[in-house]
Amino acid sequence: MAGRFITFEGPDGAGKTSVLNALMPVIQAHVETPVKLTREPGGAEISEKIRTLILDPANTAMDAKTEALLYAASRRQHLVEVIRPALAKGALVICDRFVDSSVAYQGGGREIGAEAVLAMNQFATDGMSPELTIYLDIPSAEGLARIKAHRASRQYDRLDQEQLAFHERVRATYLALAQAQPQRIKTVDASQPLEDVIKACEAVLKAHLGAAWQSCKEETL
Ligand SMILES: Nc1ncnc2c1ncn2[C@@H]1O[C@H](COP(=O)(O)OP(=O)(O)OP(=O)(O)O)[C@@H](O)[C@H]1O
Ligand SMILES: [Mg+2]
Repeated sequence: MAGRFITFEGPDGAGKTSVLNALMPVIQAHVETPVKLTREPGGAEISEKIRTLILDPANTAMDAKTEALLYAASRRQHLVEVIRPALAKGALVICDRFVDSSVAYQGGGREIGAEAVLAMNQFATDGMSPELTIYLDIPSAEGLARIKAHRASRQYDRLDQEQLAFHERVRATYLALAQAQPQRIKTVDASQPLEDVIKACEAVLKAHLGAAWQSCKEETL
């Protein structure tokens, strides 16, 4: 039996990981199939080696297209080693970031262009697309502020400003994707308190999964 594939997307600090950690037991309680939560590189050894290359601070000379190709290569291996085998077992696979992240970050943020990045990722994934994507939307400054909350507060310097512009291009690309594909991409306001974001995501999942989202035992008693 073929499984189902759902992704969570959104800018840095939107709350993807927090929401997914809270939602996993809820989802598992409502669907009969196994639920597999993953994120790139997802423990695939080759994917991890590729990511080490991408993230190595010594690789300052890395070209934006090289970066995009490496992300696509890492994604390919994760797809083949982790996502497809879980889907083949009938699992509901939920992935924290997928192709839309590359379109937003490399296509929009690094300004390679959404179309070019989508094309290289269609090659990498054999055109595979999630049936549902929950996009957690948050103003860039708010998302960055969440991530920086643990750091000492200070004025934005020139580098932070560049960072903000980069992240604003990322968000604009996500919003354009969501507008272009309203059937697949459902937007949730991630600037709400975490509990409300979790509830909103649960409602989207329930509506999408329909009959596959069953009542919990406790609710039917
Ligand atoms: N709705 C919320 N309100 C306030 N703080 C939040 C909310 N959601 C998440 N946070 C906090 O913001 C920070 C970033 O959250 P999280 O790591 O879940 O985001 P993310 O989308 O997974 O980010 P990244 O893309 O960097 O992995 C964490 O410290 C988390 O506790
Ligand atoms: Mg995260």
